Amino acid sequence: MLRHQTARYLFAVMATMLVFAGAQAQKLPNVMILATGGTIAGTGASSTTTVGYTAATVGVQQLIQAVPELAKVANVKGEQVFQIASESMTNEHWLTLGKRVNALLAQADVDGIVITHGTDTMEETAYFLDLVVKSRKPVVLVGAMRPSTALSADGPINLYNAVLLAGSPEAVGKGVLLSLNDQIHAARDVTKTNTSTPDSFKTPELGLMGYIQGGKPFFYRASTRKHTADTEFDIANVNALPQVDIVYGYANMNAVALDAFVAAGAKGIIHAGVGDGSLAARVKPALIAARKKGTIIVRASRVGQGILARNGEANDDELDFVAADTLNPQKARILLMLALTKTSKTAEIQRMFYTY
Ligand code: SIN
Repeated sequence: MLRHQTARYLFAVMATMLVFAGAQAQKLPNVMILATGGTIAGTGASSTTTVGYTAATVGVQQLIQAVPELAKVANVKGEQVFQIASESMTNEHWLTLGKRVNALLAQADVDGIVITHGTDTMEETAYFLDLVVKSRKPVVLVGAMRPSTALSADGPINLYNAVLLAGSPEAVGKGVLLSLNDQIHAARDVTKTNTSTPDSFKTPELGLMGYIQGGKPFFYRASTRKHTADTEFDIANVNALPQVDIVYGYANMNAVALDAFVAAGAKGIIHAGVGDGSLAARVKPALIAARKKGTIIVRASRVGQGILARNGEANDDELDFVAADTLNPQKARILLMLALTKTSKTAEIQRMFYTY
């Protein structure tokens, strides 16, 4: 009798454990991986090839299969959105990607999104999405500095960390994130700082947001700027973005590139000036002329750190120019394109540069 009761008890305990294990498995977050190419999907001639390889050759299913550990942290599905090296990323790619991300995040069965991407323009795609994604669910951009065939390829661990992050409650509401090298960065502030080393991504001065360690994200900082669900930008009905180009400042600079961009119909120009965005004597008249023709001029800096002071090196009030705040030129270009979908008033555009 006692033996029967003990057997029944053990059976009940085992059944409960099985049900509990099943529930735990079902509780894994659903993370969608959108693949766009880059070095994370790149292949080299040999295991020691870490430069001079071919980016964007490995498909998303192969990327997922290479990291079986993903199944332990999320229910993962993959979709190949593009297969390109990120230097060829265009506004059209961004609009397609942004709309796809918004459509997926609107689904109740998607908890987070990972986007595999080339590292060269990853910070730009991340900031674009930070401004147009209409959801608080996590979106994480990830790449690799070494191709998938290299010794100590960084892609698999970066992908594992990104999936973990995209499925984590800690990442909800933090804006679009970028994760490589066990670190978490905010889309607005991160930048690529080294041509080839795995620790290339940094958030100079403002600091990274956190780390991923032991299968868990640790956050220490969040951006104070508005992002994702709190922005005023909506790309649902946008099929093309206004043309905005960047002119780079240097000693002996001339206005040839600026004039060419304006003649080609640029609606906005980012002047990536030296120092605090100073205007060279040979270039200032061309900038003033461009503004008079209707082109929006944003003063940014090529320095990479610090605030671009409004009315500092130029009288922006008088010239009707906009100051880029702390945005680097490539990110200022993105914000100006989106701003131009809403307004061409410089006071409004300046407000946006202090908001996002
Ligand atoms: C690319 O940006 O597509 C190539 C370089 C990289 O992913 O690291």
